[in-house]
Amino acid sequence: MSQRIKINTLLQSTQTDVDVTVKGWVRAFRQNRFIALNDGSTNNNIQIVVDFENTDPALLKRITVGAAISVFGKLIASQGKGQTVEVIAETVEILGDCDPEKYPIQPKKHSLEFLRENAHLRFRTNTFGAIFRVRNTLSFAVHQFFQERGFVYLHTPIITASDAEGAGETFHVTNFDLANTPRTETGEVDYKQDFFGRAANLTVSGQLEGELGAMALSDIYTFGPTFRAENSNTTRHLAEFWMIEPEMAFADITDNMDTAEALLKYVIAYALDKNKDDIEFLTQRLLEEEKQKPQNERSEMSLTEKLQFCLSNDFERLTYTEAIDILKESTPNKKKKFQYLVEGWGTDLQSEHERYLVEKHFKKPVILTDYPKEIKSFYMRQNDDGKTVAAMDILFPGIGEIVGGSQREERLEKLENRMDEIGIPKDELWWYLDTRRYGGCPHSGFGLGFERLVLFVTGMGNIRDVIPFPRFPKNAEF
Ligand code: 4AD
Ligand code: MG
Repeated sequence: MSQRIKINTLLQSTQTDVDVTVKGWVRAFRQNRFIALNDGSTNNNIQIVVDFENTDPALLKRITVGAAISVFGKLIASQGKGQTVEVIAETVEILGDCDPEKYPIQPKKHSLEFLRENAHLRFRTNTFGAIFRVRNTLSFAVHQFFQERGFVYLHTPIITASDAEGAGETFHVTNFDLANTPRTETGEVDYKQDFFGRAANLTVSGQLEGELGAMALSDIYTFGPTFRAENSNTTRHLAEFWMIEPEMAFADITDNMDTAEALLKYVIAYALDKNKDDIEFLTQRLLEEEKQKPQNERSEMSLTEKLQFCLSNDFERLTYTEAIDILKESTPNKKKKFQYLVEGWGTDLQSEHERYLVEKHFKKPVILTDYPKEIKSFYMRQNDDGKTVAAMDILFPGIGEIVGGSQREERLEKLENRMDEIGIPKDELWWYLDTRRYGGCPHSGFGLGFERLVLFVTGMGNIRDVIPFPRFPKNAEF
């Protein structure tokens, strides 16, 4: 038997009248004759033509939607419409039966909610096949972008004893018997007896360790899972999400913005090129979905146009203060249409404000800088005005914040003062402060939320649909 060929290769084949072996899962079986077969290598199916008159009826009965089969036959130029080549089956072997009465994935449109409940099988649909191929391409492109620029991929720990964002939203890591935790004399949990001899948690960000690497390797990046116990049941939040965090020595906030903008454009262009069929499929999917909406709520651009637009326009850069002025004067603010009215300087921006700036006002991606220090993390570099820090957030249409970053406070005294002011324990972060003691230098970095990027590139509306097995409050199935 000839070696198995993947369907994407077969469909591009110019050589016909050759024997091939193809394996995959049945997507449809029409007229006891035409099998639409998919193996996940592409969104497109190969058509298998079965000579049903000369095939055992018992075998034909087992060619059902979802069954895994192996086909040996001849690749020929297709007679029918819709495909250039097809396979005339000589033998069909059932590798795995699939009971059509019970199989949840039927050849019809399923709701995304239903597919979330069947996340173990949803890879077998066109939509999720496309999403996870695009996700794969994007992660490869992230590595390629940094590798081309001489960044070192640094694996920062998943288990830590610190809270990099200082927000107290960590998951504990312990091997105590929770019904019976050892106590100190004063009645507190005695973490000295725990596995790590101290309280530990899952990381919320690899940044602090990333900074240590950058203080010797110059440019590093992390790309790994991060965990947040924030009780946000939204279409933009996960309890477990992947983050890309570059950290660059001798880089200021402008270098930081330039790198982030270049990264986003690079990976989007890469996916547009590598996943043409998938993105075209997702573009059509979104058009169909938007037909359900009233005209004024539909997007002006298709998914592909939106991605192209993002590549060919500079992101708008402005300060938080300028953004607040725009928001204060905006129609939804004046007409009290915002859920949270923008009254003055200093408040955190809500996602409705971010989306107004991006989708209505500038109509393109926006980078906001120089936020009030009160609403940002302790490590951000303090500006000379005493009020703001050298932060930068990138806001994307339909997404809101996709990147959060800053120039870091490299001046020991200023950093320590800020930690004291907001109650970040200096003794626990002695190692972080050491980099400011021993050859510290100006440096910057940012975090790109990987799932928010995948959301943008696939045009999906819910972050739970762009990670294989989403973790969120009250859900850890699969
Ligand atoms: O803005 P954040 O919290 O920044 C940091 O963690 C910094 N330490 C990054 C750095 O400077 N190295 O998170 C960065 C990005 C956000 O912009 C968002 O895209 C994503 O991570 N993000 C989430 N994505 C999904 N679910 C959540 N719960 C997220 N929280 C943040
Ligand atoms: Mg942020």
